[in-house]
Amino acid sequence: MSGTLGDSILVTGALGQIGMDLVEALRDKHGKDSVIASDVREISGHPFVEEGRFVRLSVLDGDAMDFVVKDEGIGTVYHLAAILSATGEQNPELCERVNVGGTITVLETARRHGLRVYAPSSIAVFGPDAPTTAPQVTPLNPTTTYGKTKVTGEVMAMNYWKQYGVDKRGIRYPGLVSWKSPAGGGTTDYAVEIFHAALNEGHYDCFVGPETRLPMMYMDDAIRATLELMDAPVDSIGDARGGYNVSGISFTAGELADAISERVDGFTCEFKPDHRQEYADSWPDSVDDSVAKEDWGWHAEYNLDRMVDEMLNRLSD
Ligand SMILES: NC(=O)c1ccc[n+]([C@@H]2O[C@H](COP(=O)([O-])OP(=O)(O)OC[C@H]3O[C@@H](n4cnc5c(N)ncnc54)[C@H](O)[C@@H]3O)[C@@H](O)[C@H]2O)c1
Repeated sequence: MSGTLGDSILVTGALGQIGMDLVEALRDKHGKDSVIASDVREISGHPFVEEGRFVRLSVLDGDAMDFVVKDEGIGTVYHLAAILSATGEQNPELCERVNVGGTITVLETARRHGLRVYAPSSIAVFGPDAPTTAPQVTPLNPTTTYGKTKVTGEVMAMNYWKQYGVDKRGIRYPGLVSWKSPAGGGTTDYAVEIFHAALNEGHYDCFVGPETRLPMMYMDDAIRATLELMDAPVDSIGDARGGYNVSGISFTAGELADAISERVDGFTCEFKPDHRQEYADSWPDSVDDSVAKEDWGWHAEYNLDRMVDEMLNRLSD
């Protein structure tokens, strides 16, 4: 590796669902001016674009990333830019180009300038042959292009660590539930959309069946996991560095609808599975996160009731 580790942080894909929360958390922790939000698009009126430090940057443009890293004294990249599962299966070529190509851009930039990298993996790395509760180490045979790009990301994390000493870490996020921003074209979007529909229309047409059980997590837990993983000493990080299993809450779409019905008078939910049911069916019900607990002390704080209460309270404010 060459170059010097700067103090600033670059977040790619910062205008997405996770970026919305992660940029704020990083600015609280490291100071507003130390965190540069970036995305391929601009949203006028968005607080990151209007108030904070923002650059328009495609993760497919290595020269532009190189310039930003040198110009801003970047030492760490949180690489969130990606095409998610539902959108990715509609456009697999774009999904591969952005998810694999973008990660190569970030890793090559990290190699040249000695950067640390955080880049999420996903429960989509698992295929139908994974056990119902997926262990950390199991054959990864995803059926979706999106899942395959995430497996490639995990493999690259290990390769760049072993060959070049690039410290890239990641978490296999479950479906994430948050109130600050809309979900971004993933298969677990129903677990976010249902809250908005319950409060605005009193009804939701759910695109997976009531028995569909998936690993999920409230965003506050996911952000805390991300910061804790990046704070962990390098010698505590083991072979799961590219994608640690972290367990949050495992619930069915029916259980989520029931929990909302108990709190929102008159709420109804109809289940109308579409093409996304197939992706959901190929993923495990829950994950075993004992390796994350052992390596960097992970534990979740939110259960289903606490998450539903918090979502409804926040969205009603
Ligand atoms: N949200 C979830 O439930 C979830 C679950 C598992 C893993 N993940 C992973 O977490 C990361 C972030 O997910 P998210 O939910 O915030 O996604 P999102 O779709 O909400 O946001 C992704 C952002 O990337 C940007 N982007 C797309 N192409 C780009 C490019 N070429 N250059 C720069 N930016 C580009 C988009 O404009 C968007 O703002 C992704 O790697 C995703 O695979 C998310």
